[in-house]
Amino acid sequence: MRFLSLLSLVSISAINTTACPGQAGFGFIPPKPTDLRGPCPALNALANHGYLPRNGQNITIPEVLQSSYDVYNIDPAVLIGVAKLGLLTSNAPDTFTLDDLKLHGTIEFDASLSRGDFALGDNTHFNETIFSTLANANPGVNYYNVMSAGQVQFERLAISERTNPNITNTDKEIGFRSFTSALYLAVFGNVTTGVAPKNFVQIWFREERLPYAEGWQRPAGTLDGDSVTALTGAVQAASNWTTSGGCPYVRTGPSAAPTLNSQAICKQLETLSGN
Ligand code: HEM
Ligand SMILES: *[C@@H]1O[C@H](CO)[C@@H](O)[C@H](O)[C@H]1NC(C)=O
Ligand SMILES: *[C@@H]1O[C@H](CO)[C@@H](O)[C@H](O)[C@H]1NC(C)=O
Ligand SMILES: *[C@@H]1O[C@H](CO)[C@@H](O)[C@H](O)[C@H]1NC(C)=O
Ligand SMILES: *[C@@H]1O[C@H](CO)[C@@H](O)[C@H](O)[C@H]1NC(C)=O
Ligand SMILES: *[C@@H]1O[C@H](CO)[C@@H](O)[C@H](O)[C@H]1NC(C)=O
Repeated sequence: MRFLSLLSLVSISAINTTACPGQAGFGFIPPKPTDLRGPCPALNALANHGYLPRNGQNITIPEVLQSSYDVYNIDPAVLIGVAKLGLLTSNAPDTFTLDDLKLHGTIEFDASLSRGDFALGDNTHFNETIFSTLANANPGVNYYNVMSAGQVQFERLAISERTNPNITNTDKEIGFRSFTSALYLAVFGNVTTGVAPKNFVQIWFREERLPYAEGWQRPAGTLDGDSVTALTGAVQAASNWTTSGGCPYVRTGPSAAPTLNSQAICKQLETLSGN
């Protein structure tokens, strides 16, 4: 959470232009084999609708902020930090591809909702087996909520702990994991109540399509830092998270060792606390 708050603090001036959803040029077209997609269902869907380049390449920070605002009504200030981290995953100076984002340890984390763990193979493509935990959550009703989202995170983490000896699961990862859960609840439901219809969420994850045809609309109010941070905290609390040990780090480039790491600080703290 502290890490996430740091990211959210970096603010930018508001961006104003709005594109009409469903407008010509923004229809859903599944990616061609040569189009690049990555681990983020949100950005993949934006590319599948042409709000981002359909080839998934040459993506800039202003483009992701603008399209996330136009389509998901997310305040750019909520995403600027993660957008800047996205640029670190690329070798290009000022663009990234959707595929670049899979770089493990920059944003990409273990125990995802719909992708496998890096050390176990494919951390990039949608996987129905992985997704089944979320798909089958909150049985008996047609919505997800904070409690179900927390339960899903708890179960996904337990599975990764069991199957992935290389798991990375520190404060950084739980912050990001809870942030992504909060985003699907807020964008497809209500940021205040955390209640989101299951079918919108499932269509978006499975098809990387915006569920306009099923009745979804752009959220009525802008999802801002305060509301998203509150929902993120609620999901994290409901997930009963515990760390798997290890120190948070950020991989700063495709060929770089994780250079932004707090290992030395962690070691000192361990010495002080006698662990
Ligand atoms: C600023 C632009 C963004 C960047 C650079 C970005 C990047 C990423 C990355 C790298 C992942 C993979 C994390 C993992 O599961 O290992 C991810 C996952 C995710 N992102 Fe994004 N994202 C952005 C915007 C958004 C937006 C606008 C939304 C919501 C509308 C969103 C929702 C999600 C969700 C729900 C996941 C979790 C997928 C899963 O756990 O299987 N992201 N994102
Ligand atoms: C777009 O990105 C691709 C792959 O990163 C690169 O090869 C190409 O030169 C870029 N094109 C432009 C116009 O920047
Ligand atoms: C997993 O951890 C082992 C032992 O630390 C290491 O040798 C191996 O390279 C790691 N694999 C991956 C994919 O990170
Ligand atoms: C999907 O995930 C499951 C569970 O981790 C794994 O066994 C399977 O190989 C994955 N499927 C693909 C196509 O990667
Ligand atoms: C978290 O802990 C509380 C209190 O022990 C328990 O009621 C709840 O079911 C737990 N949630 C999960 C997801 O394990
Ligand atoms: C979200 O739920 C709250 C509390 O029930 C309600 O006041 C608000 O209008 C809802 N917002 C949207 C966008 O539906």
